[in-house]
Amino acid sequence: MCGIVGYKGKRQASSVIIDSLKTLEYRGYDSWGVAVVGNPSISVVKEVGMICDADTINNLGSGTVGIGHTRWATHGKVTEENSHPHMSSDGCISVVHNGIIDNYQALKEQLKKKGYVFRSETDTEVIPLLIEDFIKNGCSFEDAFRKTLSFLEGTYAIVSIHKDSETMICARKDSPIVVGVGDGEHFVASDSPAFINHTNKVIYLENYEMAVFNGSFEVRCSITGDIIDKKVQVLDWDVEQAKKGDFKHYMLKEISEQKETITKAIHQDDKVLQGIADAINESYGTFFIASGSSYNAALSASYTFSKIARKHINIVDSSEFPNYEHFLTPQTLMITVSQSGETADVLDAVKVAKKKGVKILSIVNVMGSSLMRNSDHTLLMNAGPEICVLSTKSYTSQLAILTLLAYACVGKLSEGKDLLKSVADHVGDLTDPKTLLGTVELASCLKDKEHLYVIGRGQSYSTALEAALKIKEVSYIHAEGFAGGTLKHGPIALIEEGTPCIVFVPNDETRKEILSNAMEVKSRGGYIIGVSDEENDIFDFFVKVPDVGHASPITDIIPIQVLSYYLAILRGCNPDRPRNLAKSVTVK
Ligand code: F6R
Repeated sequence: MCGIVGYKGKRQASSVIIDSLKTLEYRGYDSWGVAVVGNPSISVVKEVGMICDADTINNLGSGTVGIGHTRWATHGKVTEENSHPHMSSDGCISVVHNGIIDNYQALKEQLKKKGYVFRSETDTEVIPLLIEDFIKNGCSFEDAFRKTLSFLEGTYAIVSIHKDSETMICARKDSPIVVGVGDGEHFVASDSPAFINHTNKVIYLENYEMAVFNGSFEVRCSITGDIIDKKVQVLDWDVEQAKKGDFKHYMLKEISEQKETITKAIHQDDKVLQGIADAINESYGTFFIASGSSYNAALSASYTFSKIARKHINIVDSSEFPNYEHFLTPQTLMITVSQSGETADVLDAVKVAKKKGVKILSIVNVMGSSLMRNSDHTLLMNAGPEICVLSTKSYTSQLAILTLLAYACVGKLSEGKDLLKSVADHVGDLTDPKTLLGTVELASCLKDKEHLYVIGRGQSYSTALEAALKIKEVSYIHAEGFAGGTLKHGPIALIEEGTPCIVFVPNDETRKEILSNAMEVKSRGGYIIGVSDEENDIFDFFVKVPDVGHASPITDIIPIQVLSYYLAILRGCNPDRPRNLAKSVTVK
């Protein structure tokens, strides 16, 4: 979590950095800060809360080298002192950091013994102080930076500047860094949307690589110091995709883009797709590994694989995967699903699997992400940047690709494509502005509720989990998803007069039983919101969705994404930045 940026070029660094930080706020938004090399010293602004601009830019001066940070607190409370950048005690060095330094307490003790005083509770502050200490002992800024890295245990993406040298340096280990290559200027960021309006030419740093920006630009091995030849890649994401346009929030924009993103998701190279389907068929044990919404998409797909391809898939939450290592052999196949490709638990699961010789396939949205680089094969979702912290378009893109794979496993790729093309059209209807507004009525009726339950069976069980996740994370209404059959084993005790319960009733084998579960809830006073292709007397409120067969999880979730959005709005919550959350969960 946390977003870091750096800029060295010919423009006013503060204004470039503040714009970049705003696009990275999805990675953390507790507090933020910027440092710019000035004359005679580094100017720093740090604040808790929203990133502000005009005054801040002026206070930071006209320097052309600087760094910035938007924080998701891990070590230390949300305070100005704990926000980044952190400075050396002599004020010459400034550092921003994403990741966790595991051995910071030991390093802190050593530095304290040398007389250094700490101003924050963070793990990061050891970094500028270590650099300072090495410089005091005769090292150049670059050598001091490299030596400091050799003392750090844990994960890091670091950018640092020095007051006298006009040099900016960055390095990474297990936290992402991408360098943007402009015309006479360079950008450093956790993620490319931070600078996409300046350049689409990028260089991805690997672990133990360090980029030094002085007059020129070099990437060096952070252990040996050897120069590494890096390839510049060109991104096909554009500026407009990363902007809100006429929408008030990214969440609504991204929900509305789904006709297009599903169409792009299924636009895959057939040969590659078929090759992956063959690998699934040939594997001895296939695992789907993911977290959060991506896990819900993978769980949904495990039902699709069972129904269409008669194939058993092991589905494991990535944070739990290390417990399954005993079942892995070189014949096992792991399919990881992740929007960001930076989720720490997913990357850790990949490490565990690779040690056992497991082949890794990934379904990822962010090109060049750590997951993509650590996979044997990748299918890109092609959803464009997803800026809202909540997954919406990436979730349906994941479902679309996984559904396609299930069809490919039984040689029916074109049948799958035809189905998904028609689904994309239905999605276009569901996200039409008029249909969206219809959901406001439901949101108004639910906005003051404290608890809400969601049920489904079969594939719709995973949709129920995803629906509950969307509602709770953005509106803070307590929402839980259950399998319809689980209700009687406990959760039904929670139903009282007026308790809302969303029920997914698709036209499949689950219809009869889920309707009787809904009736059980209604008999105890529950208010039933039916999401179905067909009206039913049991429903107190009816949300109509099309009947799209095996692809119903894609269309069924959309009205609930929209409902979640309006619940957030009516309850005064910011849908793009729910409290306590960050888009890329880069810590375990
Ligand atoms: C929920 C949400 C999260 C992510 C999860 C995994 O709306 O966005 O639950 O799905 O953190 O993230 P990725 O897909 O980037 O691995």
